[in-house]
Amino acid sequence: MHDDILTARPVRDSQSEMAELVLPNDANPLGALLGGRLMHWIDLAGAMAAHRHSRSYAVTASVDHIDFLVPVRVGDLVILRSSVNRVFHTSMEVGVKVFVENYIADTSQHVASAHLTFVAVDAKGNRVKVAPVIPETEEQRRRYDDAGRRREIRRTELERRRKAKA
Ligand SMILES: CC(C)(COP(=O)(O)OP(=O)(O)OC[C@H]1O[C@@H](n2cnc3c(N)ncnc32)[C@H](O)[C@@H]1OP(=O)(O)O)[C@@H](O)C(=O)NCCC(=O)NCCS
Repeated sequence: MHDDILTARPVRDSQSEMAELVLPNDANPLGALLGGRLMHWIDLAGAMAAHRHSRSYAVTASVDHIDFLVPVRVGDLVILRSSVNRVFHTSMEVGVKVFVENYIADTSQHVASAHLTFVAVDAKGNRVKVAPVIPETEEQRRRYDDAGRRREIRRTELERRRKAKA
């Protein structure tokens, strides 16, 4: 643990993993996992990484598009891996990658990936600054660079929507 909350921390400190066994209540009548349930788990897994990195409360500001690549069935084990890709000022982009494991067939498949932006807030809901994140591996550096490009796209889109509303 570091003493100062704003001391830069490596990506690995935020890495989180969450596992969910798909039960009938998570599925549609055909036994396939509901997309909304998976989105809920993605939000939770993303929040874990955001909390671990920022050591503060965090609210979800946005979720980039999610592709559901393969169906998930009742009885499957869903594994969600998350980490902070990049920190800006009060916001941070978190990546969540989802896998489905079938423990009978001993298979693992990539189900979905998502990028979420969380904003750090204090107990009163005021935005707070977040410590920088240090990418250490080649993949983490690629995600860091990509997160910068995605932020520009998000800002342009947000600006466009705000202007359209005005
Ligand atoms: C997210 C929220 C805190 C942003 O507040 P805001 O006053 O609009 O803030 P600003 O426009 O000044 O931006 C503040 C930061 O949020 C980021 N941000 C704001 N809207 C964003 C969006 N739609 N997507 C990504 N980032 C966003 C900005 O880039 C900025 O980041 P930075 O400090 O790292 O540069 C505010 O909109 C909010 O509280 N939303 C509700 C969040 C919530 O309840 N989520 C749960 C889902 S119901």
